[in-house]
Amino acid sequence: MPTLQLDLGSRSYPICIGPGLLGRSDIIAPHIAGKQVMVVSNETVAPLYLDKTLTALIGFHCDSVILPDGEKYKTLDTLNTIFTALLKNRHDRSTTLIALGGGVIGDLTGFAAACYQRGVNFIQIPTTLLAQVDSSVGGKTGVNHPLGKNMIGAFYQPRCVIADTDTLNTLPERELGAGIAEVIKYGLIRDAEFFVWLEKNIEALRARDPASLAFAIERSCRNKADVVARDERESGERALLNFGHTFGHAIETGLGYGAWLHGEAIAAGMALAADLSCRLGWISAPDQHRIEALFVRAHLPVRAPAQIGSEQFLDLMAVDKKVSGGKLRLILLKGIGQAVISADFDPQLLRATLDACRTA
Ligand code: NAD
Ligand code: GLY
Repeated sequence: MPTLQLDLGSRSYPICIGPGLLGRSDIIAPHIAGKQVMVVSNETVAPLYLDKTLTALIGFHCDSVILPDGEKYKTLDTLNTIFTALLKNRHDRSTTLIALGGGVIGDLTGFAAACYQRGVNFIQIPTTLLAQVDSSVGGKTGVNHPLGKNMIGAFYQPRCVIADTDTLNTLPERELGAGIAEVIKYGLIRDAEFFVWLEKNIEALRARDPASLAFAIERSCRNKADVVARDERESGERALLNFGHTFGHAIETGLGYGAWLHGEAIAAGMALAADLSCRLGWISAPDQHRIEALFVRAHLPVRAPAQIGSEQFLDLMAVDKKVSGGKLRLILLKGIGQAVISADFDPQLLRATLDACRTA
């Protein structure tokens, strides 16, 4: 079983990746300090994996809270449901919250853990590809606001991440694709060799070939852990992990949360960022075509939805955490595997990208 370590001094933690990890008390128990545990899951994941998770927790006092499923429930209201469950069941400061689910459950549970009694322990058990390669690692937690995605939250690290790759067997096809988008992201921003591997193995990934999935998850987590260890609070390099997100969040907010999957919106966002990078002369046209071709082979969108006009798109992009001093900063490419953050682009070219890269 590959175990990576995210190095953050006294807050370092392991990322365990492999099949059959859910029921393993030897993996989870050492990271639970007290006797109380609250498993947070949703109505889709709980019937599939809650019992298995609880078998690894014999000897602890376990409660669970089952939330409705969906991005539209990643809200302050839902957070309150978790707090109510904790208070009703008299969980004290030694409790451990366990996030069992995809990125929505992970982000909500992590934020609940950061706030409950000013901070309790939590563990991530990601069950989507997207959560296993990205959201469960690195301690970004939070909820959406109607005016902006992920606008309320905290940096709060888990005690460990347990990515049981068997859980991916029940993941719907579209959700798998959304996770592949984040995998491709690592190749584009900092790992050109991985991008080439993805060009050779994208069909195997889509077919859930276990060896290919295991390799892609480990490589992605290694890239993420590396970046977060150097820049936990996103004062610099970590912003590169948001490649495609300024465009993507505009799509998610503009269409209403949940209309497109997060990973799908980010895929289109990365394709638009590549288009702009090409217009700026920072990447070549053949490289831009390679990027688009990989997303297309992964069955991911490479255009923004026509319903959001360019003006509205620009307004939505202005509500972004990377906006600084009123100036929009974007993650762009200077080559495959070489992302940069820049406010130094001609707004006319951004406009041209938005006008050109739309669904018919
Ligand atoms: P999700 O949590 O909504 O899960 C996708 C769907 O798959 C849901 O319906 C879920 O119930 C279902 N599901 C989960 N595991 C399953 C399984 N094993 N089998 C069958 N169905 C399963 O979406 P996601 O793509 O995992 O995460 C997206 C969220 O993650 C967004 O809110 C995004 O903002 C956030 N995110 C956070 C970070 C971060 O660093 N914190 C990074 C990337 C994305
Ligand atoms: N998904 C972006 C980050 O964790 O920083």
